[in-house]
Amino acid sequence: MKVEFTVNGDRQDVDVEPRRTLADALREDLGLTGTHVGCEHGVCGACTVLVDGEPVRACLMFAVQAEGSSVTTIEGMAGPDGTLHPLQEAFSTHHGLQCGFCTPGMLMSALDLLNREERPCRSRIREELSGNICRCTGYAGIVDAVEAAAEELATGAEPA
Ligand code: FES
Ligand code: FES
Repeated sequence: MKVEFTVNGDRQDVDVEPRRTLADALREDLGLTGTHVGCEHGVCGACTVLVDGEPVRACLMFAVQAEGSSVTTIEGMAGPDGTLHPLQEAFSTHHGLQCGFCTPGMLMSALDLLNREERPCRSRIREELSGNICRCTGYAGIVDAVEAAAEELATGAEPA
């Protein structure tokens, strides 16, 4: 089936089997391998992308369901000139990643949170990221990073 949608601002036409997941279409048909696939059951959050601004599990959505939608993946997070998003900078500064497998999904979920709430408290950050599983960092650095990025985005200050 032909599907047409926008990914990170670029229009894409893909020919997929109806059973193809959005995660597989992004990774295998469009070469956007930043979206990771861990559990393929909607549990780990590694495949999280934004569809029309809402976070979705790309492993649980069929590519054909994205027809006409605007999809944002981790590849679309940095600026066009490669300048990292404050969240990406903060994950680096605050040691929010170790192996990095969960990181794209963490960043997309964190972006969704900061799109909705200007300065979420630490417990809100933990609550909102509770659907994303990390096997490495113990979460403290991730919460630190999201908190610092929120501060930077709200005030324009450099992250601590
Ligand atoms: S791969 Fe989609 S939630 Fe785990
Ligand atoms: S940094 Fe390794 S799974 Fe999160």
